[in-house]
Amino acid sequence: MKILFVTPEIAPWVKTGGLGDVAAALPAALMRAGCDVRVLVPRYPALAAAFPDAQPLIRLPAFGGQLPASELFLAQAAGTPAFLLLDCPALFDRPGNPYLGPEGRDWLDNHLRFGLLSRVAARLAGNASPLDWRPDILHCNDWQTGLAPYYLRFYEPGGAASVMTIHNLAFQGVFAPQLLDDLALTGKDWHIDGVEYYGQMSFLKAGLRHADWITTVSPTYAREIQTEDGGMGLAGLLQSRAAQLSGILNGIDTEVWNPATDIHLPAHFDRAHLTGKAQCKRALQRELGLAERDDCPLFGVVSRLTHQKGLDLVAAIGDALVALPAQLAVLGGGDKTLEKAFAALAERHPGQVAVCIGFSEPLAHRIEAGADCFLMPSRFEPCGLNQMYSLAYGTPPLVRATGGLADTVTDCTAETLAAGSANGFVCGPATPEALIETLRRANAFWHDKPSWRALQKNGMARDFGWARPAERYLDLYRRLRPQ
Ligand code: ADP
Ligand code: GLC
Repeated sequence: MKILFVTPEIAPWVKTGGLGDVAAALPAALMRAGCDVRVLVPRYPALAAAFPDAQPLIRLPAFGGQLPASELFLAQAAGTPAFLLLDCPALFDRPGNPYLGPEGRDWLDNHLRFGLLSRVAARLAGNASPLDWRPDILHCNDWQTGLAPYYLRFYEPGGAASVMTIHNLAFQGVFAPQLLDDLALTGKDWHIDGVEYYGQMSFLKAGLRHADWITTVSPTYAREIQTEDGGMGLAGLLQSRAAQLSGILNGIDTEVWNPATDIHLPAHFDRAHLTGKAQCKRALQRELGLAERDDCPLFGVVSRLTHQKGLDLVAAIGDALVALPAQLAVLGGGDKTLEKAFAALAERHPGQVAVCIGFSEPLAHRIEAGADCFLMPSRFEPCGLNQMYSLAYGTPPLVRATGGLADTVTDCTAETLAAGSANGFVCGPATPEALIETLRRANAFWHDKPSWRALQKNGMARDFGWARPAERYLDLYRRLRPQ
C-alpha cells in the first residue's frame, strides 16, 4: 500500500497544534504497519535546516495562473517515512509560524502557498505524476490541503483515491472569489459543487465535496459536525456525505510522550512507580516560581489560547481556583486579550499562578508531568491530544464532554470509580459556574489520596498508541484503493 500523506505542518520542526503531532506520528505508524508512505510538506526554513542533505528530486512547472514553479527534495530521518519537501522559496522561505506573519495576521498569499501544496499533491497522486512512485491513496489534512482532492478529481483524473481528514472544521480556507485565477481555476470551478462557498471560495469545502472518503479525528466529532451546532456552515454537505464519513480517534506518540523515558523531565515515573511524579511537581514549581507546597493541587494548562479551548472560563475563575486553595501553571499563546487576562491573574497571585506566554515543547512536557490535574474545558474539540498526554502522565484531565474529549475521558463518580473506568472529570456547560463546581469536585477528590491514585492508574493503563488507529486507516485505505 502506497500512501502520499500531505500536510502543512509536521512535528517537531513545524508545529502549531495537534496536526503537527499527528502528521509526524501517523505516517510513521503506517510505515510500521507495512505501508510505503511519503509525506509531502512545504520546505519551510526549519525543514531546510533540519535536512541540509536533502536530495533534489524533480522540478515541477508553474501551474496556470500564479502557482509558481517549484522543486521537490527528498529527505529521510532515521525511523521516519521519506519526506518530499516542496521547495518554493518565494512562498515558503519565511521564518516563524507557518500561517501568520510577524503581525499575527494571515500571510496575504496563503491561498497561493497552500494552493500550490494542494496542486502538487494532486499532480503526484495523478496518472501524469512525474515520479515513478505512484500512491494508491492521497491522504489530505485540513483546509491547507483541501484543494488537492478537487484538483485530483478534475485536473489529474485516474490516479489515487483521496481521503480528506478534518482536524478542525473551524478553519475552512475561505478566500475572495477574485483569487480563482491565481489557483489555475476558472469559471467552470465556480459553482455549488465546486469551490464556491456562500459567495466565497473555500478550500476545505471543495475537498469535503470531492474526496473519496472523509475522516475526522474522533467518533463523537464525526457526529457533531453533521449537526447545525457543530457543522460550522458545512453540516448539510457533511450530512450528504454521511455514508463516506467516519471518525478515527487519534493516537499519541508513546515514544515522545512517555513519562518513563521523557527526555524533558527531571525525574521519571510509570504506573507502578509514581514517586518520580512528585519530584516533577516540585521541580516545576521551582522552575515557574510557584510556592513549593504539596498541600494543594497544581492545575496545568498547555494550549493555544483561543475561544475553542474555553480558557476564558479558566481566566474567569482564576481567583476562585487560587482560593480553593490550588495552584495554576499556564503555557500558551494566541488571543491577546486572554494572554493579558492570564498575565494579570499571575500578577495578582504570585507564587500561586504562573503564566508563560509562548510555545515551548520542553515546558509542555514538564507541565504534563508536574501538574496534578490538567484543565481542558474546550467548547469543541475534534480530538485533543493533551488530555491523552495527561492520562498517560498520571495527570487526570478536567474536560468538557465534547468531541474527542468525550471519547477519552470518563467522569469520576462512585460508579465509574468502582467499575475502574474513571480517569478524569467532566464538566457540564461552558460556564464559569460549571467549571468552578467541577474544579471543587476535583480538588476535594485530590485530597483523598487512595482514590486519586486509582484515578491516575486508570488513565495510565489505557493504550493510546498509534498502532490501533493506524490499523483503522489501513482498513479504510484497503477499501478505497483503486483496483
Ligand atoms: P490543537 O491542535 O487544537 O491545538 P491538540 O490538543 O490536538 O489541540 O494539540 C495541541 C498540541 O500542541 C499538543 O501537542 C500541545 O502540547 C501543543 N501545544 C499547544 N500550545 C503549546 C505551547 N504553548 N507550547 C508547547 N506546546 C503547545
Ligand atoms: C486540531 C484539533 C484537535 C486535534 C488536532 C489533531 O488542531 O483542534 O482537537 O487533536 O487537530 O487532529
